[in-house]
Amino acid sequence: MVANPMKKEVAMTRISSLLAVAAILVAPSFPAQAQTGISAALLDSYRNAARQEDSGFRDFSARRGEAFFHAKNGDLSCASCHTDSPKQTGRHAKTGKAIEALAPVANARRLSDPAKVEKWFKRNCNDVLQRPCTAREKGDFVTWLISAQ
Ligand code: HEC
Repeated sequence: MVANPMKKEVAMTRISSLLAVAAILVAPSFPAQAQTGISAALLDSYRNAARQEDSGFRDFSARRGEAFFHAKNGDLSCASCHTDSPKQTGRHAKTGKAIEALAPVANARRLSDPAKVEKWFKRNCNDVLQRPCTAREKGDFVTWLISAQ
C-alpha cells in the first residue's frame, strides 16, 4: 500500500506543532536551571575557601546570613541600602538611587554572574565592615538569598 502523501503531511505538521509547544513549555526553565548551577558553583567555591579559613567549618547557614545582613556596624548595615527584605527594591543610602531586589526569586539576574557578585561583595563589605567579608559570611549570605521564596 502506498501511503497517502496528504495524510503524511498533516501528521508532520501535527508533530512539529507539538514540538513547538514542548519547546515553549521547556524553555523558561533553562535560565533558572543555569542560574541554580551558577549559585551552586559559587557556593562550592566559598565552601572550599571557608574550609581554608577555618578547619572547623561545617556548612553555611541561612539564619547566620540573615543576621549578617541586618547587623549594623556604626549606623550602616547591608539592609541600609537593600531594605529589610531581599525581595524588595532598595535605595542607596547615600545617592538615593534605586537598587533592584537581591533575591533571585524576585530578580532573575541576581547571583547569575560570579564576577559581579564578587565585585559588589568587595565594595559593600568594605563600606559596611571596613574589611573584606570572609568566605563564610559570603556563603551564609548567598545561602540566605537563595532560600528566599
Ligand atoms: C551603600 C549602599 C549599599 C550597602 C550598604 C550594601 N550594598 Fe549591596 N549593592 C549596592 C549596589 C549599588 C549594588 C549594585 C547595583 C545593582 O546591581 O543593582 C549592590 C549589589 C550587591 C550584590 C550583587 C548581587 C548580584 O548578583 O548582582 C550583592 C551580593 C550585595 N550587594 C550584597 C551586599 C551585602 C552582603 C551588603 C552588606 C555587607 C551590602 N550589599 C550592602 C549597594 C549597597
